[in-house]
Amino acid sequence: MTTDLLNARLDGIKPLDVAEMLNIIYQLLIAGNETTTNLIASAMMLLVRNPDQMRLVIEDPSLVPNMIEEALRLESPVQGLFRVAKAASEIGDVKIPEGARLAVMYASGNRDEAEFPDADRFDVRRANARTHLGFGQGEHFCIGAALARLEARVAFETLLTRMPVIRLAAGKNDFAHTPSFILRGLRELHLEFEAS
Ligand code: HEM
Repeated sequence: MTTDLLNARLDGIKPLDVAEMLNIIYQLLIAGNETTTNLIASAMMLLVRNPDQMRLVIEDPSLVPNMIEEALRLESPVQGLFRVAKAASEIGDVKIPEGARLAVMYASGNRDEAEFPDADRFDVRRANARTHLGFGQGEHFCIGAALARLEARVAFETLLTRMPVIRLAAGKNDFAHTPSFILRGLRELHLEFEAS
């Protein structure tokens, strides 16, 4: 990919300079790495803390993709990002002046009771789980969404087949998260398992 960036040429546009290339590489490294890692750990935490839901997925592995959407909704690895309002507008009763800096919290929308009844519940069969905002929305929708979904699906299809008994390691988990305003992820997750 770095070779492609170095060789990229578009008619009439100057080639990318080193700073621009580094910016793209950093973005892909951060956006595409820590997020997916956090998603897999968070989904595993939700499963081991909700054994009834874990059982449903083990009994019917076709639920894995929807379980991943539900984990993205509840534990959104990207909690929100920033925007600058290009025009004055109004959301609900809140007036937003032109030029205002906004923290748009996808994770908050993902627990909107109007969209997701009983929103704090982890429900691997939730019919509209995929309507979450965990990958953003609109022009800047995550370019890696399909890859992240695939990685998580392969991870869980493999893990749940090879280790049908997975539980929390007794007394070792405090479920502390890495302090960050934007990214959400567990510092550690200690598990015990029995191999099949
Ligand atoms: C669970 C995994 C992931 C989550 C939760 C996630 C979340 C997001 C979100 C919320 C945005 C929207 C940003 C905005 O509104 O400004 C975004 C954008 C982006 N994501 Fe992801 N992402 C994930 C995985 C990936 C992967 C695997 C890649 C690359 C291989 C990636 C690359 C990007 C890039 C480059 C953007 C910027 C797109 C743009 O501004 O047009 N992400 N991601």
